[in-house]
Amino acid sequence: MVNFPLPRIDNDGVLHSLLLKHCSFKPGNIWEDPEGKHKIGCIDAANGKAITTLLDKQKSSLAVHDPPYNFVAFDERDLEKFIDWSKGWIKNTYDSLLPDSSLYIWLGADQNNHFQPLPDFISMMRKSGFNSRSFITMRNQRGYGTQKNWMSVRQELLFYTKGNPFFDINSEYTDIPKILRGYYKKVNGKVTENFERGKSEFIRAGNVWVDIQQVFYRMEENVNGCYAQKPLKAITRIIEASSKANDIVLDFFAHSGTTLIASEITGRKCYTCDIDPVYCEIARRRLENYRTTGKTGWQNSNPFEEEILDDDELKNYLKEEYQIQIPERQGQKIVL
Ligand SMILES: C[S@@+](CC[C@H](N)C(=O)[O-])C[C@H]1O[C@@H](n2cnc3c(N)ncnc32)[C@H](O)[C@@H]1O
Repeated sequence: MVNFPLPRIDNDGVLHSLLLKHCSFKPGNIWEDPEGKHKIGCIDAANGKAITTLLDKQKSSLAVHDPPYNFVAFDERDLEKFIDWSKGWIKNTYDSLLPDSSLYIWLGADQNNHFQPLPDFISMMRKSGFNSRSFITMRNQRGYGTQKNWMSVRQELLFYTKGNPFFDINSEYTDIPKILRGYYKKVNGKVTENFERGKSEFIRAGNVWVDIQQVFYRMEENVNGCYAQKPLKAITRIIEASSKANDIVLDFFAHSGTTLIASEITGRKCYTCDIDPVYCEIARRRLENYRTTGKTGWQNSNPFEEEILDDDELKNYLKEEYQIQIPERQGQKIVL
């Protein structure tokens, strides 16, 4: 099998501009799914007018957002700017949601800087019109750490609601078998224990998720080139618990298109956007690739494989800058 990765796009302006040439998206464009389900907009999440155009008078029952929180460089002023900017896309989310709806936000917390932006973001949300419902932590398998601190292996997920939305926790069991007996309770006069009462031999999902594999290069769902991909299993869990079939799911920060693919798999419609045409293109290609091959990502390849094979400038750049071995076309075959 040809192993043909793509390095992180966000760190490399040259690579980004070489890929941009192959993107059909321009700022302001909205792609509509020929199957009539999803939309992808090349839109700034904080631009209310553009988001209204994306929704086109429809409303959504669920939003799952994963904004960039580049906290490596967060000083006071940057933090204020981040919160101000967040107010904008949170308002746009509120206006796009049905009276009974759910909002999930992935957010980082810089342990070397008072755990920002999490605390200021949470304070800002008090005036957003949303009610707080849960604070979920997902455990990463790999983390960053030093000998002088606990290894950092957490990802924070905030759950807010508007009105009184649908919530089906009973569909959400983990892969972790129940092992603890006990917790006796009387049911119809008979003392029962945990195992007898449970609907499943597995543990129901709570607000700490330890059963989700972080995306890495050996997984089918991996999208080479993307740096911040969330696991499909996590997004699917959110979608199944907080929306129904055919509902519209919003994601203002598409990136690799995880919410789009999870919506396709679970029979929801996804209206998503990203400010960067390259990620809009990747999200659309990921959906098309899933529809034609059944694969959720490019474990051994990447979304721009075809173009890289034929674009000498791009090919030579990857070879020289990253020493990536680029396969060649030999008739119908692609070989290293
Ligand atoms: C953390 S990533 C989202 C990852 C995504 N959940 C996934 O699983 O692939 C954040 C994305 O937000 C996009 N972005 C940054 N600023 C934006 C803005 N103002 N409006 C829309 N998208 C923006 C970035 O281009 C990036 O692709």
